Amino acid sequence: MKRDELIELLNRLLEAERSGVRAVSGMLKPLQEGELKEGLKKAKGDEARYVAGLHHFLKQLGVTPSGKMGDFADKLLAIDGIAEQLRFLNRGQGWVARKIEALLPTLTDQAMRDFFTEMLDTHRKNIAWAEKMIEQLTATVA
Ligand SMILES: [Fe+2]
Repeated sequence: MKRDELIELLNRLLEAERSGVRAVSGMLKPLQEGELKEGLKKAKGDEARYVAGLHHFLKQLGVTPSGKMGDFADKLLAIDGIAEQLRFLNRGQGWVARKIEALLPTLTDQAMRDFFTEMLDTHRKNIAWAEKMIEQLTATVA
């Protein structure tokens, strides 16, 4: 991957993760303590960690990181119902995971490889966790 393509992708991922933090923060607000809230708190911490990491790598590449935020959070928070919000969250997280899957084989920098390997693994785990939550939530309602 060319340097400018890498920078573009890192900035888009940064904007997506930043929007992820805001989306999950909004989802957390009305929730009572419990497994769902705990898991979302962890997911929020993960997303925030990736914002910081992407910021770091962009600065290392000598560019000013994007200060923008994707419109993902606004779209998610306009959705009614936590189960549907989780589904939408997983679509966003799936997009991020696919971008990283394509990026990883092109990376030569070991610190970046380690970072994105962990980011991909965590996204996959958080997607699986959210799927489990959706199943539980929809089983309760049905
Ligand atoms: Fe994410």
